[in-house]
This record gives sequence, C-alpha cells and structure tokens, in this order.
Amino acid sequence: MSKFQTLRVTEICRETSESVSILLEPVSGESFIFLAGQYLTLLAKIDGDDVRRSYSLCSSPSEGVLRVAVKEVPGGKFSTFCNRVLAVGDTLESLPPDGRFTRDFNDSVKNHLAIAAGSGITPVISIIKDVLSTDLSAKFALCYVNKETSSIIFKDELSDLKDTYLERLQLFNFLTREPAEIELFSGRLDSKRLSRIFPEVISPSSFDVAYLCGPESMISDCRTALTGAGMPDSAVKYELFTSSSDPVKESSVETTSSTSGEEVEVSIVLDGITTQVSVKRSGKSILQAALDSGVDVPFSCQGGVCCTCRCKMTSGSASMDINFALEEEEVENGYVLACQSHPEGDGPFVMDFDQP
Ligand code: FES
Repeated sequence: MSKFQTLRVTEICRETSESVSILLEPVSGESFIFLAGQYLTLLAKIDGDDVRRSYSLCSSPSEGVLRVAVKEVPGGKFSTFCNRVLAVGDTLESLPPDGRFTRDFNDSVKNHLAIAAGSGITPVISIIKDVLSTDLSAKFALCYVNKETSSIIFKDELSDLKDTYLERLQLFNFLTREPAEIELFSGRLDSKRLSRIFPEVISPSSFDVAYLCGPESMISDCRTALTGAGMPDSAVKYELFTSSSDPVKESSVETTSSTSGEEVEVSIVLDGITTQVSVKRSGKSILQAALDSGVDVPFSCQGGVCCTCRCKMTSGSASMDINFALEEEEVENGYVLACQSHPEGDGPFVMDFDQP
C-alpha cells in the first residue's frame, strides 16, 4: 500500500502561464491501472527534502497513459518544482492511483453534470473523456469556473472534445474576473447565481449524477443548490481542491483536558507488521508521530483532504481535527484520517492501515 514506484517524465506541456501537464511512464514497464477521477501521490526530492503531493490524473483510462496537471501555487514547493525545474527524462516516485472521486459506473447513469473550478477540472476532464468515449448513449454537461480566459486549463482540449461530441457534451464557461458575453456567466458561482442557473440554463432533475470539484465554498453552495432543486444527495459526488501550499502539521484543536499532554501507545499496523508508537493526546497527529518513529505510513496532503492516510481504529478511538474526505458512515465504522487524528478515550489503541 505504501510502496512507491518510479515514473519517468516523458513530456511536459505548458497548459497556462501557471500550470503544466506532465506525462509519466512507469520505469518498470508495468501499467498503472486507474479509474477516471483518481489521483497519484507523487514524491520528489526538493532542496534535500522529500516532498509529496497528490495530483489528479487528467488522462482517462481509455487513453492508456498517465498524465497529471500541476498548477503553480505561490510558495508551493512541489508545484513550483514541477512548473520550473522538472524536465523530460527526470523521475518521480508515485504511490498507486487512489481516490474515490470517480466516474459513476451504474448502467442507468446516462446524464452526467460536473461543476469544476480552476485546477478542479483535472479529475473532471478524465471522467468526461472516459464517459463519452465508452458509453455512446451518455451525455455530459460541464460548468467550468475560472478567473479569466487565460487561466482556463485544458481550454483547447475541452474545445476539441466539444467538436468531437457535439451532441453529447455541453460546456458552460464562467469567468469571475472578466466580463462574459452573457451576464449570467460572469462573476462568482455563488448561491445567488446558482439559483438562476439551475432553472434558467440547467435542470438538475435531468441529471443522474453530479461531480463537484473545487474550493469548499463552491462545493457547499453547489450541493445545497442541487439538492434543493431535487437531486438526491447520494447522486452528488465531490472532491475538495485546496490551493494551500503547506500541509497542516500540528493539531489545531486546543484542549484544556488534564490528560492533553499524556503520552499513550498506539499500535500501527502496516503491511502486516505492527509497530508501537508513542503519541501525545494533543499536538502532533498520530500520522506525524508514526513518521517520526520511522514508520512509512502513507500520506500526501496532511490537510484532511486527499484520503491517502485513511485507516481504521480497530481498537480504541481517535478524534479528528478536520475531515474533508471520509463519509459519515466510514467514520461511524471507525475509519479515520491518520493525519488529523489524536488518541481519544481509553486504549489500547490500534490503527490499522491494512483495512480495505
Ligand atoms: S494525508 Fe491527505 S487526508 Fe491525510
């Protein structure tokens, strides 16, 4: 699960002034099997440090290649490295493809809607290509929000897709900092604008599934608007895309409990091996304590978003600072994000990374 493989960079394309797409090929010659919408956790040595980040695949499985897009974030080590230093022929390490923001494969799902903002288009374009190329009776509508025309990632590719799938793909571009021809498409895609778009341009009830990918506020507004317009919540899939450059390293939870500084033992189960790790009840996350003890647990964003560190408390429980990735039902069943977890209540504590 936590095993990295080496990928070679075979092509780098500049998509916008702030983003590149990178074509990768496993050095071993083995193919990486993935579902449309999944991501890779990439690892590079940058200025002597191991830095890892997750990036969604923008290629679709039917294309048979691995391509990710990376938007440069001010102060972002990995994204700056990819945009300014990485060259064809270099190698990166990668965990196997992962993620649950994937295409809905249900046979009865024919009408797909996606709302993406900025680099949130990356997993969405993979899903669009996969759906339209493999299900000839499927239709897709994409609402794509950008600051201005020049910041639209995959502008040409989307336009080519529109030409290829004239009758089956609808594209609606929204610009937040540039006037659009139609007033409705200019400005932030907030609840007020959504309340006009849904009856005027798009009818949510005509879609079987919606994919949302962008910042938290957009996802929250769109979910509310879609469900308010009659779409079942279970039909709305979403993935949070943050632009923060630094992973969350310390607990943001303040505790006044007299046991907050107490150290407890947590058994970390990974690849069938159990390692004891001492963890304070507050402060560092269990993931950080495990890494400090030399346990190679999987992680990427360290911000409660990507789900790479998902594991299960098979004994004892843990509280999470934030959780943007796990479903309510998973949390009820003991699953946690190790990067956000702190031991809670009585032990023994067992955190199992081998659970499916
Ligand atoms: S490392 Fe991304 S959610 Fe924990």
